[in-house]
Amino acid sequence: MAPEESKSPTVLVTGASSGIGREFCRLFARDGYDIVMVARDEARMKKLEVEIQGRYANKVRILPFDLAQPGSPQKIYDSLKADDIRIDILVNNAGFGQWGRFQETEPQRLYDMIEVNITALTKLTRLFLPEMIERGSGKILNVASSAGFVAGPYCATYYASKAYVIHLSEAIAEEVDGSGVTVTVLCPGPVRTEFFKRSEAAGTRLEGMFPQEADKVARIGYKALMKGRRTVIPSWFYKALVFSIRLAPRKLATKIARWQLSGE
Ligand SMILES: NC(=O)c1ccc[n+]([C@@H]2O[C@H](COP(=O)([O-])OP(=O)(O)OC[C@H]3O[C@@H](n4cnc5c(N)ncnc54)[C@H](OP(=O)(O)O)[C@@H]3O)[C@@H](O)[C@H]2O)c1
Repeated sequence: MAPEESKSPTVLVTGASSGIGREFCRLFARDGYDIVMVARDEARMKKLEVEIQGRYANKVRILPFDLAQPGSPQKIYDSLKADDIRIDILVNNAGFGQWGRFQETEPQRLYDMIEVNITALTKLTRLFLPEMIERGSGKILNVASSAGFVAGPYCATYYASKAYVIHLSEAIAEEVDGSGVTVTVLCPGPVRTEFFKRSEAAGTRLEGMFPQEADKVARIGYKALMKGRRTVIPSWFYKALVFSIRLAPRKLATKIARWQLSGE
């Protein structure tokens, strides 16, 4: 066997320090992948590394980067290239929201959100996709949200950012169809992670509306990624909701989202 073929495949997971991303790392580790973890919280990623290496022989590399910094994706790419690490699967999972009226939200928080949820995801995809296509193999999983199917009053930028992720992913998936590379977009409803607290959205109706556990959502996303599926909503309730939103007048759908996102 050629040395290249004897290497374990490698996955890069952003947002690996917590929630759904951490569960993805556990699933990839179980299946023998070497893992590159990206997030800001190095200590939490080290803890996950210890957990993984206590059970499996995978190589783990921790890259503590702030994806709100515009230069981070290129630095991540360059550091992997310098060490000749090939990424077989890219999981763009890092993201956050911010609850509140648009005009009252701290501007930098919104700009950082766009940088993490949209720009870093786009840059990492643009950096890693060409070599996947050249090899005729590779997979990308982008974590969007069922929020991406509707406008979200009190979470306007977050909902819009996830609409971007869905459209970008579906368009690239179609472009690369038949190349051996697949792009999957995962669109969960509420998941019990640190997301709602960090987004200051705890206590909204949405938080209590059929939430799922992070391990289950990651498992469904993982299976879909491996099968090369395109758009995955991991909850029957949100599948039905997204379907009905498509049939409803847009103004009504926005009003329903506003009701879900209001705090009372
Ligand atoms: N939970 C939900 O209800 C829900 C529903 C639909 C979609 N999603 C999406 O699922 C994805 C994962 O979220 P989660 O629910 O697992 O939330 P979480 O527990 O808050 O995890 C978010 C992850 O993103 C990372 N992250 C945030 N800002 C970052 C930055 N500036 N640079 C690098 N990494 C950053 C965090 O790491 P550090 O803080 O260590 O940097 C953390 O690992 C997000 O894209 C989210 O939008 C979540």
